Amino acid sequence: MESELSRIGVSLPDILLDKFDVIINNRGYSSRSEGIRDAIRGYIRYYDWMSDIEGQRAGNITLAYNHKQRGVEDLLANIQHEFTDIIQSTIHIHLDHDNCMEVIILQGEGKRMTEIYENLVKNKGLQHVKLNTIIPSEI
Ligand code: NI
Repeated sequence: MESELSRIGVSLPDILLDKFDVIINNRGYSSRSEGIRDAIRGYIRYYDWMSDIEGQRAGNITLAYNHKQRGVEDLLANIQHEFTDIIQSTIHIHLDHDNCMEVIILQGEGKRMTEIYENLVKNKGLQHVKLNTIIPSEI
């Protein structure tokens, strides 16, 4: 358990804070601080889990985006063309008039999977970027 507490100031868009408040209320947190601490712990756990991905893996990355946002499709294609060593296939679904979902099917070196994930997730135009992998030899 952490003992020392530091106070920080964070600027957030209202819409993000509103959504967060709904979640922490639904989950029964006693304060925003408690919810934020838990969210940061989850963020760190996910990063640590990502850092352990190596060796032969199979996996997928799911993401969503608004295809009318300028440059986003070029960006997505450019990134994927840098990872032809691990990309087996890409499935594209047109969700509605504006929004698309892609599932990128991966097989190969796990460290390359975290590299493509990091390249994708840092782009604001791509949302819900999630990586999932399995170890084929452990099935
Ligand atoms: Ni589409």
